[in-house]
Amino acid sequence: MTCSSTGGVRHFLDLDRFDSATLRHILDLGHAYKQGKATNAAPLGGKILAMIFEKPSTRTRVSFEVGMKQLGGDVVMMAAGDTQLGRGETIADTARVLSRFVDAVMIRTNKPEKLEELARNASVPVINGLTDDSHPCQVMADVMTFEEHRGPLTGKVVAWVGDGNNVAASWIHASAHFGCEIRLACPDSLMPSQKAVDWARARGCTINLMTDPQQAAAGAHLVVTDTWVSMGCTDTNRHQLLEPYQVNRALMTRAAPDALFMHCLPAHRNEEVTDEVMDGLQSVVWDEAENRMHVQKGILTWCLT
Ligand code: CP
Ligand code: NVA
Repeated sequence: MTCSSTGGVRHFLDLDRFDSATLRHILDLGHAYKQGKATNAAPLGGKILAMIFEKPSTRTRVSFEVGMKQLGGDVVMMAAGDTQLGRGETIADTARVLSRFVDAVMIRTNKPEKLEELARNASVPVINGLTDDSHPCQVMADVMTFEEHRGPLTGKVVAWVGDGNNVAASWIHASAHFGCEIRLACPDSLMPSQKAVDWARARGCTINLMTDPQQAAAGAHLVVTDTWVSMGCTDTNRHQLLEPYQVNRALMTRAAPDALFMHCLPAHRNEEVTDEVMDGLQSVVWDEAENRMHVQKGILTWCLT
């Protein structure tokens, strides 16, 4: 089923809620926007996106704002602490009110339940701009970036190294749609969402969980990592545990010779990734950041037209 709720509103909540053809369509739109090939350059003329942030952001905020404006629309920025949400107005009531003013709502929040509640009560599309459990816009940009550099992901091996976090869960979802194998090397206590793993495996995906980063990277076509301490994570004493999971030159040497390196950013340089890898020839992190905007233009177009 596609990601929609009551009344056929097109929400973009999580990649496990989509059929592969819809995600392919959104990615194709993203590629077309980037290449200047979109048939209608400003399909969202007059449309307004509200953006609710309960956590900090640089890329998500700027890429949605610039993307919306390039499509002919505009945005209203809402830092949750400055709104009545911060004083306890419910998400459901906020959804009802915002639906009277704007054409779509993007939210970055901690609990996925808040995203769901917003979508259940909004009569306009809701887009997931990151929760503690997932980051689907990011992984759509990552898939687009891989395709741009190396072609389809089908049959490729992706090595996720480090914390089995929200971005990892969306990568697991993506593997089911785009046909790649994923190896996730994480400490035992930081393994990714079992629910995501079970969902992808039920769709025939190869998801290999392991603790050895060398084993994960061996022959991989893409090595991905992320911060060791995600926003809102209270366990800040993980550095020693995660030190063996640093992506450095030695680890990249284990991967395929033409392997790419990705990181959703922001990076903690010389913690989860060394400067040498981040700034090296295999790194495509700046393209990943740029592609947030192009693929989100695809997402916005799918949601709103
Ligand atoms: N990758 C990402 O979502 O970055 P921001 O936190 O800056 O939005
Ligand atoms: N896993 C990170 C991603 C930041 C874009 C976090 O949730 O903080």
